[in-house]
Amino acid sequence: MKYDRIDNQLYIKNRSKFVHRMKANTLAVFNSNDIFPISADSTMPFQQHRDILYLSGVDQEESILVLFPDSKNNAHREVLFLKETSDLIAVWEGEKLTKQAAFEVAGIKTVYWLEQFPVIFKQMMAEAEGIYVNTNEHLRASTEVETREDRFIKKVKVDYPSHQVHKSAPIMHKIRSVKEAIELELMQRACKITEAGVRRLLKFIKPGVWEYEIEAELAHEFLINRSKGFAYTPIVASGKNACVLHYIENNKQCLDGDVILLDVGAEYANYASDLTRCLPVNGKFTPRQKDVYNAVLRVKKGAEAMLVPGAMMAEYHKEVGKLMESELLGLGLIDKTDIQNQNPDWPAYKKYFMHGTSHFLGLDTHDVGLWNEPISAGMVFTCEPGIYIPAEGLGIRLEDDLVVQESGKPFNLMKDIPLEADEIETLMNEK
Ligand code: GLY
Ligand code: MN
Ligand code: MN
Repeated sequence: MKYDRIDNQLYIKNRSKFVHRMKANTLAVFNSNDIFPISADSTMPFQQHRDILYLSGVDQEESILVLFPDSKNNAHREVLFLKETSDLIAVWEGEKLTKQAAFEVAGIKTVYWLEQFPVIFKQMMAEAEGIYVNTNEHLRASTEVETREDRFIKKVKVDYPSHQVHKSAPIMHKIRSVKEAIELELMQRACKITEAGVRRLLKFIKPGVWEYEIEAELAHEFLINRSKGFAYTPIVASGKNACVLHYIENNKQCLDGDVILLDVGAEYANYASDLTRCLPVNGKFTPRQKDVYNAVLRVKKGAEAMLVPGAMMAEYHKEVGKLMESELLGLGLIDKTDIQNQNPDWPAYKKYFMHGTSHFLGLDTHDVGLWNEPISAGMVFTCEPGIYIPAEGLGIRLEDDLVVQESGKPFNLMKDIPLEADEIETLMNEK
């Protein structure tokens, strides 16, 4: 791990939030992710499952967390099962958590080696009436790959057919969406690393530079700041490429007169930052580019002010749609007839702004959260309106990360990252 040790009070508190929502005499199991193979003996870099991470801080493969608050055996109220290590194993396989180190990371006293899991889990299940399993219920999740959680769930249903099965997901989505102060500090640090990357680019970008050179500058800045890299696949899209929402090739040359859309964010300690900025390749926006830029900026400012406790996401998205409609009328991109004839399920503004304005942000970039419950303080959302005009080879999106506060406007974790068009031009032209 490149990040500094995190105070285990975070995990102690997170577990307490989960267990207080469990039914009587049940246990809950959380599995780590697998290390995914490439071919031959190559593997992809490890990415921990965010739920076991959130509840324990264990950032290591082949790990299992069991929570059983009503166990008659005090030692079994919270248990970690980890891949066995020793001084000898460490020489061959590298450093893994010892039982003492796991206690320090997670604040969990009972740590067994993974090979003990079947026997101890059987004892625990004999005592429990039900089990919480951790299915992936993210609305956008779609994967062909069977995870360690999936394999565990299949097996437990076969091995223990008479236990009641409950879902961890709704609890995890609720508790993960409201961030603790320690988490907000980590997210702020991720945003600060992203800021360092952007400031580097303001001096680096000029006509003729290649999109991948920009990606490389960011990667360098992120890694020297203890990030393991991009929180999500970076989008470095110049000119018309910016109109391809998931453009990730990043292999074109940036031309004089183009605007470049950068949807890039560093991770820190597995927390994501998610930023979009649009920069003129030659350091100066044309009047038309600036008009579109400022239209998006006005929508963003209006939208941010609506991210307050009690607001409902569905209603918020409708209101942002109205702001965008008015800006598109002003830019001459749609007219009153388009609006009169529009399909209510796909309003006219969607021709130029076809994605959502905000999503939860946290350990996952598109973080878990309950979309149909009111927004509350401590939630973190992106705000990212955009206008995409393929006919003009121009796409503008502006995105910041915002913490909802008890009262007033949200706190912008990216408030120090240049945003106003004039400020960007000034910084790009500084010698
Ligand atoms: N970068 C992904 C997103 O903005 O949602
Ligand atoms: Mn983004
Ligand atoms: Mn986003």
